[in-house]
Amino acid sequence: MSSQKYNRRQGQFPHTRMRRNRQHAWTRALVAENHLTVHDLVWPVFVQEGEKQRTPIESMPDVFRCTIDELIPQIYEARELGIPAIALFPVVPQDKKSDNAQEAYRDDNLINRAIKAIKKEVPNIGIISDVALDPYTTHGQDGLLKGDVVENDTTLKVLAKQAVSQAQAGADIIAPSDMMDGRVDAIRQALDAAGYESVSILSYGAKYASSCYGPFRDAVGSSHNLGKANKRGYQMNPANGDEALKEIALDIAEGADMVMVKPGLPYLDVIRRVHENFSIPLFAYQVSGEYAMVKAAAEKGWINESAVMMEHLVSFKRAGATGIFTYAAINIARTLMQHSQGDCKIWE
Ligand code: PBG
Repeated sequence: MSSQKYNRRQGQFPHTRMRRNRQHAWTRALVAENHLTVHDLVWPVFVQEGEKQRTPIESMPDVFRCTIDELIPQIYEARELGIPAIALFPVVPQDKKSDNAQEAYRDDNLINRAIKAIKKEVPNIGIISDVALDPYTTHGQDGLLKGDVVENDTTLKVLAKQAVSQAQAGADIIAPSDMMDGRVDAIRQALDAAGYESVSILSYGAKYASSCYGPFRDAVGSSHNLGKANKRGYQMNPANGDEALKEIALDIAEGADMVMVKPGLPYLDVIRRVHENFSIPLFAYQVSGEYAMVKAAAEKGWINESAVMMEHLVSFKRAGATGIFTYAAINIARTLMQHSQGDCKIWE
C-alpha cells in the first residue's frame, strides 16, 4: 500500500523540490543554463567630425558622439575588457548629405577614416560597419527615393559601393541594416569582385519598423531629415513572425555569414524561432529605445539599472542569440569583469 503511494509521488512534491537547486548562490551558478560573457558583446559607437570632442546624446544617457581621436582610447579599453567587436555609426554633417547619398562611398568619408584609424591603433578588435544610406540622404531614408518610394534596385548599387569602400578601409564585417531586397547578394558579389572575399556579412535580416529607434536617429542626426515619414515600406511589420523566417532564409541563401534580429526585447520570440530554424550565428540588437527606457526608469529611481540591463541581456542568450549589440557594453563588461574576479553580487 505505502509503496504504491510512494510510486505515485515519485517525481512530485514533496519528493521533488525545485527550490533545492536554488538554495545557494553557488548552486544557482552551478545549474545556470545560460551565461552572459564579455565575448557576447558588440559595442555600437557614434563617430563625429572634428577633434577632441564628445557630444552627449540627450535621449541616450552616458552615450556620446565622439571624434575619432576621442574614440580610440575607449575602443582600446573595450578591447582590454575583452569585447570582441565594435559597430560604427557615423554622424554625417548636413552639408555632406544629398539625394543620391554619394558621400556613403567616398574613400575618405568619416566612417572610412574612423575604420582606418581604429584598425591602425587597435588592430585586434573586430570592426562591424553599417551599410545603409540614412546617415547620407537629405530625406533620412535608407535608400534612394523615386517620388516618395524608396527604390530597391538602384539603392542596391549604392549599397554595394558603400560596402566595398568600407572593406577597402579595413572593415571586417559589413552589416547591411537597410532592408532592401537582394542586398546581401549584391554586396557579396561586389566584395568578391573587389577581392574582399574574406570580409563577412552580418545581415540585419529581421529588422522591424520599430518605434524604438528614435534616440538612435537623434544620435546620428537623421530624425529631423526623416520628419514625419516612416520606414514601413521596407522594414518589417511588428505584427509578423513567420515573415522573419523567410527574410532570414533568403539572406542565408544570398550568402550572409551571420544574421540579426532587431530590436531585441520585443522580439524574443523571433530570436527563438530563428535559433531553432537555422544554424547560423545570430545577433540581437538591444536598440537605442530599449536602452533609453532602462536608463530613464533607473534615473527616476524606479528600477536597478545594472540588474535590469543584465536581465534583458541574458534573456537574449536564453532566447538563442549568439551575441548582443548593446550601448551598455562597456559598463556591462566592467561588471562582468568584477564578477569573474570573485564578486558574485550579480547572481545573488
Ligand atoms: C539605420 C539604422 C537604424 C538603427 C541602426 N541602423 C535606425 C533606423 O532604421 O531608422 C537603429 C539602432 C538603434 O535604435 O539603436 N539604417
